[in-house]
Amino acid sequence: MKAILLAGGNGSRLYPLNQISSKQLQAVFDKPMIYYPITVLIAAGVREFCLISTPHDLPRFRQLLSDGGRWGISIEYREQPHPEGIAQAFLIAADFVVGDNVVLMLGDNIFSGGDDFPRAMAEFHGGATIFAYHVKDPERYGVVEFDRDGKALSIEEKPAKPKSGYAIPGIYIYDNQVLEIARSIKPSSRGELEITDVNREYLRADQLRVHRLSRGFAWLDAGTSTALQEASAYIEAIERRQGVKIGCPEEAALVRGFLTLKQFEALLEGMPNCEYRDYLVSVAAETRRLGGFK
Ligand code: TTP
Repeated sequence: MKAILLAGGNGSRLYPLNQISSKQLQAVFDKPMIYYPITVLIAAGVREFCLISTPHDLPRFRQLLSDGGRWGISIEYREQPHPEGIAQAFLIAADFVVGDNVVLMLGDNIFSGGDDFPRAMAEFHGGATIFAYHVKDPERYGVVEFDRDGKALSIEEKPAKPKSGYAIPGIYIYDNQVLEIARSIKPSSRGELEITDVNREYLRADQLRVHRLSRGFAWLDAGTSTALQEASAYIEAIERRQGVKIGCPEEAALVRGFLTLKQFEALLEGMPNCEYRDYLVSVAAETRRLGGFK
């Protein structure tokens, strides 16, 4: 399974913060936003990434993440000159996906808790899998209606009268048909290639599965200045309470076996003294103590 991280867009709802950096590079408590989706995907066992962003922001992503080698993954980069829709990612990264299955994740989606994604990816056998998360205000999102077996019945984009209370978060798993489907859909009235239209094609072919995220799961939005601050506060509260970090790619890579303990410890050498490093030092010590991964 390959992964596309979509991290372009204008981030205009973050103004004036969007003037200093891309949305997905803003701090969510103690680390850049993009660390969170990368960590989720590493924890799910993904090793090959393609990050898509604007020509303006891409150099900064490259500087931060480089080729991913230090985390035991590979990261390629592609430009999206204009935000012409989430589904455009498949046209831009078609040569990266080639014959493989692919998970598309939006760079501003922050998740915490549970093993839903690794399970859904392990259980994926073709077609498409999307996720469903219960929210108070489904009319703000793409909304999915599904049966007891997780078969999708309908999908609507920002419906005035939602048929269910379940919103679709920004993580989608597709088989290789997605490249063909993305080529076949037309821009919507707002001029974007809509991911909802891709999902509708799978629904029409009776190949759309819905994985309901468990109740303890948190899906945080960071699209407005207030939501960004709330996401930071949430992450801080959990990290302080539990003494473990959320969105730490180094730790996920160690646990997943993408890095040996030796490689992990070598990473610490190059890191300045800071709280983040202190945490990784404690992870290394605990791993050594247990004689393996935490
Ligand atoms: P949005 O939040 O819908 O758009 P935005 O990030 O540009 O924000 P704003 O509305 O405040 O201007 O996008 C959701 C995510 O998808 C976000 O991470 C940006 C990304 N995205 C792209 O990278 N390219 C696109 O063409 C679109 C539509 C979104």
